[in-house]
Amino acid sequence: MSGSTITPWVVGNWKMNPMQANAQQWVEDFTQLLKEQVIDSQSCRIGVAPTTLALLNIKDQLKNSSVDVMTVAQDVSRMAGTGAYTGDISAELLKDSGIDYVLIGHSERREIFGDHPQILNAKIKNALSAGLTVIYCVGESLEQREAGQAEAVVLQQICDIAAVVETEQWKNIVIAYEPIWAIGTGKTASPADAQNMHAKIREGLIQITSEGKNTAILYGGSVKPENAVELAACPDINGALVGGASLDAKSFYQIAHAFAQSK
Ligand code: 13P
Repeated sequence: MSGSTITPWVVGNWKMNPMQANAQQWVEDFTQLLKEQVIDSQSCRIGVAPTTLALLNIKDQLKNSSVDVMTVAQDVSRMAGTGAYTGDISAELLKDSGIDYVLIGHSERREIFGDHPQILNAKIKNALSAGLTVIYCVGESLEQREAGQAEAVVLQQICDIAAVVETEQWKNIVIAYEPIWAIGTGKTASPADAQNMHAKIREGLIQITSEGKNTAILYGGSVKPENAVELAACPDINGALVGGASLDAKSFYQIAHAFAQSK
């Protein structure tokens, strides 16, 4: 038991996976596991972030779940409202479709799609104004870590958003610390290293907002059933953002179960 009063979040980020039939099968399998052994939403908040194409189907299918499972968008437009922005989906459109959560700032968006801090701030501002809860991802590269810059990089990424998050909106921010070198590589930060960074993030948040002591800080990067218990035991690790292992309903269930048990 860590003694933290923050309810953990365990969110599966499916990225550009899977095909529709497999997504539907996943929901069947996952809801069956929840039926067999309930994970109380007071002990762990569970979410899944499918592709935009599957978002509404999955949300609909999850209505039959015995336990609330949040459906989370993987990204949002930097443009607000409606308009001539081919290919994009605004925060208002997500909200209008019943989606209440969104990932912003994932390292894949930053690195592959050029989401720099100004773009991310526009996305965050729009998402919060539309009433969405934002899971804001931060994390350093291997080069930055090896150069001893990990902490400074991550704290800067947190400070970057302070300009657009209004005082009362911090309660709608969740942070996900995902060291880039640990994503999809099988290498996890050691629980001690992850805890250390989470504690630094917590200190940084407390300096920015009175809400900082309550903000959930999730860890992401090769989280799997084998390391979930140890990570969940760390006092400032308030959940996980899970990529690869979330595609397997049973593995994802086991990770959520580990966090639910630990707090
Ligand atoms: P993996 O769990 O596959 O390392 O991915 C982590 C991640 O990027 C979640 O957003």
